[in-house]
Amino acid sequence: MKRALITGIAGQDGSYLAELLLANGYEVHGIVRREALEDPHHRLLNIQHILRDIKIHVGAIDNHLSIYKIISLVRPSECYHLASSSFVSYSFEDESSLLANNFTATHALLAGIKELAPECRVYFAGSSEMFGDARISPQNESTSFNPRSVYGISKLAAFHLARNYREHHKLFVAAGILYNHESSRRGYQFVTRKISSTVAKIHLGLENRLELGNIDAQRDWGYAPDYVVAMHAMLQQEKPEDFVIATGVLHSVRDFLIEAFSVVGLDYEPYTYVNPDHFRPGEVVPLCGDANKARNVLHWRPTKTFGQIVREMVEFDIARLEKK
Ligand code: GDD
Repeated sequence: MKRALITGIAGQDGSYLAELLLANGYEVHGIVRREALEDPHHRLLNIQHILRDIKIHVGAIDNHLSIYKIISLVRPSECYHLASSSFVSYSFEDESSLLANNFTATHALLAGIKELAPECRVYFAGSSEMFGDARISPQNESTSFNPRSVYGISKLAAFHLARNYREHHKLFVAAGILYNHESSRRGYQFVTRKISSTVAKIHLGLENRLELGNIDAQRDWGYAPDYVVAMHAMLQQEKPEDFVIATGVLHSVRDFLIEAFSVVGLDYEPYTYVNPDHFRPGEVVPLCGDANKARNVLHWRPTKTFGQIVREMVEFDIARLEKK
């Protein structure tokens, strides 16, 4: 039986991946922070329904000793490193915890795998933010990186570390360069969930305004459950490689607004307020992914359209609030 270890198992991607691996007959282990067990209703919400089928380990991912102990206990055959600080902030308030969560934690994991389970295949979660202020669009695996947020820099540093362990220590480490991917399990701080949850509240008469940053910002938005299929496929290949995972289709935040409000039969404009304080530096060329390599090698395809993703998120949030 294959044994998988997932860091960040309680997050959006971790929870979908755990479901996928369970369905494929894996023994699934996941790492969560100690605080998660103190508030399981909130912090383990995405994995409540599978808690009895998986094994949870408490650990601090940026602490080498803590990670080593878990790796030696689990002895995984596949490890998916998804845990990270994932909000792209341009404020300089919390850079050290961001670097610890994204870079030091990756080092702890790779070093532990090298020492204790060198046959284990590792997936590293890279990000389109590593391209940052990209020079060309769409971007693929050969495009130069030009990160401009500390988040992007931390992910790129960890990505280079992952490559280094692949090339010099001969570990099987594959990296996904994932573009934005959304679902009804997305955190509320991200723009898509902020919109879907607020539209649901407006529809139910619980809210009457939605404050956003730049609504002309564009993103390549995909469906999170599709993206975990790609992660798994990367570890089933003969050799470890890097793959861009994206839809190749750009939409603006405004497009998302129009679609989301149309689900409840409303026009977005009377409810939406643009606050320039939330603006981030704009892209000169948009972040849009060219996933041809994943299509050809992994036979990976997105399964849902933008409109279907938006509808699913808004309908989920309405049903969730109605249940409350
Ligand atoms: N969060 C947020 N809130 N974003 C806003 C808002 C707002 O009120 N208004 C406009 N935006 C714009 C942002 O400026 C950005 O251009 C876009 O909406 C998407 O922002 P986020 O949803 O916060 O995602 P992100 O693109 O910064 O980062 C996500 O995708 C990356 C690539 O996959 C995160 O998941 C990262 O962890 C990930 O690496």
